[in-house]
Amino acid sequence: MTERSPESSSLSKNLALPATQSVKYIGSKLRLLPQILQLVRLVSVHTVLDAFAGSTRVSQALAYSGCRVLCNDHAIWSKYMGICYLKSDHSRTAYQALIDHLNGLPPQDGWFTEHYGGEDAGGICAASDGYKKPFQRHNTRRLDAIREEIDRLPLTEVERAVAITSLLLGLDAVDNTLGHFASYLQRWSARSYRTLTLQVPALAPATESHEVYQRDIFTLLPRVEADLVYFDPPYGSNNEKMPPSRVRYLAYYHLWTTICLNDHPSVFGKAMRRADSSDLRSGSVFEDFRRGSSGRWVVIEAIDRMIRETRSRWILLSYSSGGRATAEQLREILDQHGTVRQVVRVDYRKNVMAAMSWTGEWLRDAETPHQEFLFLLEKR
Ligand SMILES: C[S@@+](CC[C@H](N)C(=O)[O-])C[C@H]1O[C@@H](n2cnc3c(N)ncnc32)[C@H](O)[C@@H]1O
Repeated sequence: MTERSPESSSLSKNLALPATQSVKYIGSKLRLLPQILQLVRLVSVHTVLDAFAGSTRVSQALAYSGCRVLCNDHAIWSKYMGICYLKSDHSRTAYQALIDHLNGLPPQDGWFTEHYGGEDAGGICAASDGYKKPFQRHNTRRLDAIREEIDRLPLTEVERAVAITSLLLGLDAVDNTLGHFASYLQRWSARSYRTLTLQVPALAPATESHEVYQRDIFTLLPRVEADLVYFDPPYGSNNEKMPPSRVRYLAYYHLWTTICLNDHPSVFGKAMRRADSSDLRSGSVFEDFRRGSSGRWVVIEAIDRMIRETRSRWILLSYSSGGRATAEQLREILDQHGTVRQVVRVDYRKNVMAAMSWTGEWLRDAETPHQEFLFLLEKR
């Protein structure tokens, strides 16, 4: 899945954009990085909390642009990537011997091959349980060997994060998926035939004391001090007929959790999801599709609470149209808690971007699907 930047506009011209790296990730803000950086620079802040860091693209871009970054997500894969890209004291070459060692291991059968490896039957995915698989067996056998070895080696926190991030990136380059692990392709993708090969991630030595957290946003907010908080939560589904069709990160990326933990969990269903990623047991209030006790949608209550409990002067909020939170409800929350200083809209289908003043004109645009907004709020 290649992501491109939207057409440049006056807001993004002449902006040096640092290179970032990650796995394919639904909702990644790779294409919005120029606008995010520009809005952050507009208010000259130093410490920024990336509160729903996901792929860590935004955290990387902020850190490589001179900000001190507090990187948070409740998902463990995000924590490992955050440590890898933000916490290294060394340059990439310091990790080459470790990565070479992992690449040189003889492949072996193991837990990942048993559950997620398939054979090639003339271009079609074949497995003894009859299910489609996310990787070819020649690669899960390499995964089994590498993942076991990472646990055997006496690694520092950063070395471990570098090894695991490198494994996630390597697997992402040979997967048989559409960018998540909720289902797999029947006909093997061309990239699944490649050999899983690890490379040292494109990290840079830290120039600030960045911090990485794996916390629920509501337990984190009272504990951290930041000049600006960037919020990019999931925005519940507004699909009344099929609420389960909403993106649920812990369920969609269950395999990244298992690779990080290497805990051989019980699994269920055709996609072999971890039991603790089932619809009943996991998730986030931001992925909810029901009404809460106040009569408002649970996700609206959560956004309201999140902005209320933020102690920073500046808030940058991402919002995608088509979610459970309507533009009008969001406007009410923003107006209640502060003054919106900037609104930026990106239409991904038309590949155009516009900066607009707070005239309410964005409300009309927000009725159209596939619109992405950035609000810069000064809190009262
Ligand atoms: C839209 S994605 C963020 C994408 C990210 N900005 C990027 O560029 O990759 C939303 C993220 O919120 C995380 N998340 C959901 N609920 C959360 C919660 N209650 N606390 C912390 N993180 C949460 C998910 O794991 C997911 O990575």
